[in-house]
Amino acid sequence: MCCVTSVYVVGHGLIEADATIDDGGMLKLMKRRRSGARPTVEVAEVEAIEETPPALTLMEFLNRAYVEHVDDLVRAHPLEKAMDLAVGGSGDAVSALEVAILRAVGLTPTSDVLDVGCGSGRMVRRLVEDGHAGAYLGIDVVPALVEYARQKYPDCYRFEVGDGLTISTEERFDIACMFSVATHLPFESIFIIFEGVLAALRPGGTLVVSFLELGIPGHDHVFDVSVDTFRTARAHNQFVHRDDLRHIGELAGFGFVRVASEAESAVPIDGMFVWDDGSVLEGEGMLGQSWMVFAAPS
Ligand SMILES: C[S@@+](CC[C@H](N)C(=O)[O-])C[C@H]1O[C@@H](n2cnc3c(N)ncnc32)[C@H](O)[C@@H]1O
Repeated sequence: MCCVTSVYVVGHGLIEADATIDDGGMLKLMKRRRSGARPTVEVAEVEAIEETPPALTLMEFLNRAYVEHVDDLVRAHPLEKAMDLAVGGSGDAVSALEVAILRAVGLTPTSDVLDVGCGSGRMVRRLVEDGHAGAYLGIDVVPALVEYARQKYPDCYRFEVGDGLTISTEERFDIACMFSVATHLPFESIFIIFEGVLAALRPGGTLVVSFLELGIPGHDHVFDVSVDTFRTARAHNQFVHRDDLRHIGELAGFGFVRVASEAESAVPIDGMFVWDDGSVLEGEGMLGQSWMVFAAPS
């Protein structure tokens, strides 16, 4: 019989405990117990051993930060306001811009749309007003945002909670978007999501991804703010060079179509909208992020 003091138990991790391995190679976990002056041992059930919970994976950490950020907003604001702030505010203007970008890359009134990181459904506002007739599925990691969107929009707009990496749907879509989502994610997770999106797109389908790149005045401003707030920040702003994003998309199996930033990213806007800072969006507008368009192989 051989004695050990720490064992690795699958599903439990490294456990500090007295244990023996008998001659037949069987491991028995022991708990030392004093009875009078004589130490005795008893076999403990593996399940009965208390242990600290395993550390969060990076994805769990990021997802939880989002959930807690939304919880904080809900505590501080009326629900409608909290749900708008949770996705960055200026709901009507951004909704109009996002749908205008989708139109610019091929959205038709009957396109089936996959919206990864849909938040509280900001983009759907405009789709509803336009009477969009195609299917819509939005996926987000924050249950409170998904629940709000389900209550707010007609049932034909469907919203699901995801794990942040998996696109779990058997449906196929014509167009997928990730607006202000890759702007918060590590490259590896962007790649994994891209693979899932590719599988969910019809042959020749389109993916549009907005992103932040350094060296563009509007984006550099976001970087400055990120640096200023980094010591206390719980959300992460991810900047990516356009060549790297293109590479990630191509590695995932997409074909690169085009990239737009600054003036080239301006899209025509139907109607007039007011940004939260009071300025007016009319005629044409820009999202404040670059966007890249990919195509699924035909
Ligand atoms: C800035 S908001 C943008 C929401 C929406 N796309 C829009 O433009 O209104 C970013 C959203 O991405 C979601 N998110 C973050 N990481 C995600 C992930 N890995 N998968 C899906 N959604 C994610 C957040 O919960 C949040 O709702």
